[in-house]
Amino acid sequence: MISTVIAIDGPAAAGKGTLARRLADHFGYAYLDTGSIYRAVGLKVLRTGQDPQDPAAAEAAARSLTPDELFSLQKDPDLRTEAGGQAASKVAAIPGVRAALLDFQRQFAAVPPGGCAGAVLDGRDIGTVVCPDATHKLFVTASVEERARRRVAELRAKGIESIESDVLADMKERDARDSQRDVAPLRPAEDALELDTSALDADAAFAAVLDYLQRKA
Ligand code: C5P
Repeated sequence: MISTVIAIDGPAAAGKGTLARRLADHFGYAYLDTGSIYRAVGLKVLRTGQDPQDPAAAEAAARSLTPDELFSLQKDPDLRTEAGGQAASKVAAIPGVRAALLDFQRQFAAVPPGGCAGAVLDGRDIGTVVCPDATHKLFVTASVEERARRRVAELRAKGIESIESDVLADMKERDARDSQRDVAPLRPAEDALELDTSALDADAAFAAVLDYLQRKA
C-alpha cells in the first residue's frame, strides 16, 4: 500500500509543527519533526566540544546517530533553545549531513510507523527533496517579526525569558542560512499551497488547510 504523505515546509516558528501535529492527529497519521533530527545532530556535535560547521565532525555525528540516541536527544531540554536551532542550521548546511539523514526520513514517509496509513513530515526540504512525490505539499510562512514574537511567547511558556530583538536577529540569521545554502535550500515546492499564518491563529490555520485538503480530494 502506498502511504499518503503530507509535506509541510517553511521557516522557524511559522506554525508548521502545530499544524503538522494536528493534521497527523486528525487523520491518524504518523508525524515526523525533521528539524528535531538536525537539532539532535547539532547538539551531539556541541556536546563533544566540536564545531557544528566542521563538515567531518558533523557528518560523523549524523552517520553514527542511532534511533535510541535520537529519541533521547529529542527529549533533551537543550534541543529547543536558540543555540540548538543555530547548531542545527549549521550542520544542516553540510551536504554529507543531509545525505546521511535522507534514508531515515524517506523510509518514515514510505512505511509510517505504527501501521499508520499516512505520514506528516515537517521541515525545510520535505516537498522539494525528501518527498518530491508527496500527496500534499504546504509551505507555511509568517512575517519574521510575528515569528519572533511567537518564539518569545513559546520560550516564556517554558519559563525561559528572552529578549525579542535577540530572538529576531537569531531568526533572521537562521532564515538567511537556511534559504541561501547550496544544498536543499528553504524554498516552496512548485506545487505547494502557500499559507501565510501572520494573521491566523492555530485553529484558523488548521481549518484553512483542512478545507484545502477536502476540496482537493
Ligand atoms: O524546524 P526547526 O527550527 O526545529 O529546524 C532547525 C534547523 O534544522 C533549521 O533551521 C534548518 O536549518 C534545519 N532543517 C533543515 N531541513 C529540515 C528540517 C530542519 O535543514 N528538513
